[in-house]
Amino acid sequence: MVNTCVTLCGIPLDNPVIPASGTFGFGYEFAEWYDINLLGTFSFKGTTREPRYGNPTPRIAETPSGMLNSVGLQNPGIDAVISEELPKLRRVFRKPVMANISGFSEEEYVANCARIDGQEQVGWIEVNISCPNVHNGGMSFGTDPASALAVTKAVKAVTTKPVIMKLSPNVTDIAAIAKACEEGGADGVSLINTLMGLRLDLKKRRPILANVTGGLSGPAVFPIALRMVWQVYEAVSIPVIGLGGVTSAEDVIEMMLAGATAVQVGAANLVDPFACKTIIEDLPRVMEKLHINSLEEIIGGAH
Ligand code: FUM
Repeated sequence: MVNTCVTLCGIPLDNPVIPASGTFGFGYEFAEWYDINLLGTFSFKGTTREPRYGNPTPRIAETPSGMLNSVGLQNPGIDAVISEELPKLRRVFRKPVMANISGFSEEEYVANCARIDGQEQVGWIEVNISCPNVHNGGMSFGTDPASALAVTKAVKAVTTKPVIMKLSPNVTDIAAIAKACEEGGADGVSLINTLMGLRLDLKKRRPILANVTGGLSGPAVFPIALRMVWQVYEAVSIPVIGLGGVTSAEDVIEMMLAGATAVQVGAANLVDPFACKTIIEDLPRVMEKLHINSLEEIIGGAH
């Protein structure tokens, strides 16, 4: 009998598989399809102080082996998340959830994190300093080590739960950003968010996305994500969550060998709502085939 359990920032997970923020709503939507308690946990949609309708449409474009999105942090705002979404989730999910928090200023990150920290069902706070689809927020905090350090420090000062900083691949040196977050007191880092991309409509001779650019995700980005997880694992001592193009149990194991303690699955949920369930069910068989008894033992095993 193989062991799929891992511990993420002191909190045990039955398995390392975590649906990524923005691809799994607030969780209860998927509970209509299967028992979401089989997940390690999941990260809910990036939440801001104010409700947001997101960017104008079109905001999705297909690409070979992936997709571009420019959703623009559509979410109901932190008040509604606390008063409406989390109570609905509580009815169907018995585990700690990962709260994904966004902001447009350091002060907003601090206020949102302080509020969500008080919610019993929240296990970890994933701070999104890497959204490429909004202006004056998101990624602007995650592309400079000094800003990343400042946000991390400010958020850590008002929280009691593990803080995981979600990093952007749209930088020259992601390890330097990860190190800055570690210096600011982060309990973990997750990477990678999407890569900035563009597609044009040949007939209109204009960008397909109303926002012009969008974030690339899906299997096409897996080797880039894996390379960055590898580099960050070598640079920091805090846990790394790997994400980017993961679609199978084999990909989960590859991410863990590169250094991931847990693995998020994003775009695959949009192709197949059962993607995470299938990966979790496949894991024991794939582990046996690869002679892996315990997932915890293989973290960083390829270094
Ligand atoms: O546009 C979005 O809502 C995406 C967010 C993100 O990639 O962090």
